Amino acid sequence: MKSRFILGTAFLLGAVGAFGQERPFASIFRPLATPARSEYQLSLLVLAICAAIFVVVGGLLVYIVVKFGDRGPITHAEPPQVYGSNQVEIAWTVLPILIVFVLTMATARVTSALQDRPPAMSSLKVTAIGHQWWWEFRYPDLRVTTANELHVPVSTADHSRTTFLTLESVDVVHSFWVPQISGKTDVIPNRHNRMWIDPQEVGTYFGNCAEYCGAQHAHMLIRLVVDTPEDFDLWVAAQRKAATATQSAGEQNFLGQQCVECHTVRGVPASGDSGPDLTHLMSRSTFAAGMLPTTVENLRRWLKDPQAVKPGNYMPNLELSDKDLDQLVGYLTTLH
Ligand code: CUA
Repeated sequence: MKSRFILGTAFLLGAVGAFGQERPFASIFRPLATPARSEYQLSLLVLAICAAIFVVVGGLLVYIVVKFGDRGPITHAEPPQVYGSNQVEIAWTVLPILIVFVLTMATARVTSALQDRPPAMSSLKVTAIGHQWWWEFRYPDLRVTTANELHVPVSTADHSRTTFLTLESVDVVHSFWVPQISGKTDVIPNRHNRMWIDPQEVGTYFGNCAEYCGAQHAHMLIRLVVDTPEDFDLWVAAQRKAATATQSAGEQNFLGQQCVECHTVRGVPASGDSGPDLTHLMSRSTFAAGMLPTTVENLRRWLKDPQAVKPGNYMPNLELSDKDLDQLVGYLTTLH
């Protein structure tokens, strides 16, 4: 009994120690934006209160087990009969109420401070749309549409740049979560949920859909790319350009296939909107919602049989010949 308790305590301490280590990505313990930071501070308060409760309850338990665990041979005499204690009953009723009150007020304060912030005229607006199983990002004011990799400018001490996200879903409930930047916000059909972020360090941050949304829920990743303002402007300028029609064999093949029913390539007659916009496919480091690096080999593998790579996704196997595959992959790699 005692050895099992010691083992359990050692395991818990080990787990707590592991949290302190620096993770390469996706850690709520290294917040890099205001929403994530205030949620992190709240979580420390909650953890501290829970740890104190754990120590008190665990300590009493250990004390009682050690002190009263073995009382020698069993006697059959009746133990002393005790009836309640008003002081103790009042204490263990009032104390939990106070603790719950403190936790509720602290949570409500952080939640309302984050939710009630109105978007400034100058802030960047992005509509994030959840699909089974990928993310569409539209920048309505900039006339840019992209997928899975969200670019935003960095927010600095002397120039705060906030991005306001409107979250929508075309099918089921998803949840938008980039742990270092903000907590989760559900993405619900027929609802416009909102959140805002102000990432304060340039870099790429990883997130994922945080609500089970079907077979490929685990392959619904988010890459949040935080750019310097100059890089962000360059990115926007590049994304706004349409593709140049070339009449090449690959382009003709693409336009003749079912591809155009689901995908858009601005600049050529392809304006389907149920799949990701491909106009600047090659500007994204990954495709299939963060599953695969955007390389010739991976594009070929995907086009040959999307269902083998990501079973259940909505891209059908088009039974393409090797010649079609070569032409289509060749065309896709021109979409920078
Ligand atoms: Cu989308 Cu889980």
